[in-house]
Amino acid sequence: MSAVNSLSGWVVLVTGAGNGIGRAEAHAFHAEGATVVVTDIDRQAAEVVARELGDRAMAARLDVADGDQWAQVVSETNESHGPVRVLVNNAAIFTPEPNVDGDVDAWRRVLEGNVVGTLHGIRAVVPGMRDAGGGSIVDTISTAGTKGISATTGCHRPIRGASTTSRGGVVVHTGRSSR
Ligand SMILES: NC(=O)c1ccc[n+]([C@@H]2O[C@H](COP(=O)([O-])OP(=O)(O)OC[C@H]3O[C@@H](n4cnc5c(N)ncnc54)[C@H](O)[C@@H]3O)[C@@H](O)[C@H]2O)c1
Repeated sequence: MSAVNSLSGWVVLVTGAGNGIGRAEAHAFHAEGATVVVTDIDRQAAEVVARELGDRAMAARLDVADGDQWAQVVSETNESHGPVRVLVNNAAIFTPEPNVDGDVDAWRRVLEGNVVGTLHGIRAVVPGMRDAGGGSIVDTISTAGTKGISATTGCHRPIRGASTTSRGGVVVHTGRSSR
């Protein structure tokens, strides 16, 4: 990003923006002039980051796995600031959760948040983007989504744990959505 205030008037929604990369992305978009919707499953963390940004920012609790919450947050954003023009699907649950010995319900929770959550986000914002004349969706993934990871398991061969499998799902899904 280079031009100052190049995103002035644009509304950007970042998930998992209460910490880490999402927080940094929220700051970067805000510095470019965007109005930033700081969302996180941890409401307090989202509120702290929104306060750091100051004006042109709002905080909302959003569990990306919950389609109803997506509808509510996008609707509130629309009423307060206008349609979301950039969505950053950043939030992810990380747990290696191995395939043979791992807990199946833990796998479900990871896939629900990391894969279905991305789908919820796309479905929630695309109608508003279409009406507004366009927008951008950024799906955060990981090289672990294509290679797997072995470091946390101590195995020589990569194990397709829950989180790495979910990242792979988003790689494929993002490719399909962009066509
Ligand atoms: N940090 C890395 O080295 C790294 C490497 C590759 C990919 N990534 C990807 O970057 C993204 C951010 O990673 P990070 O390291 O900044 O994470 P982080 O753990 O620092 O922050 C994740 C944030 O997401 C929130 N969150 C967790 N579950 C959520 C849910 N269901 N709904 C909404 N929010 C939820 C957490 O509360 C937290 O604030 C993830 O998609 C991750 O897979 C990170």
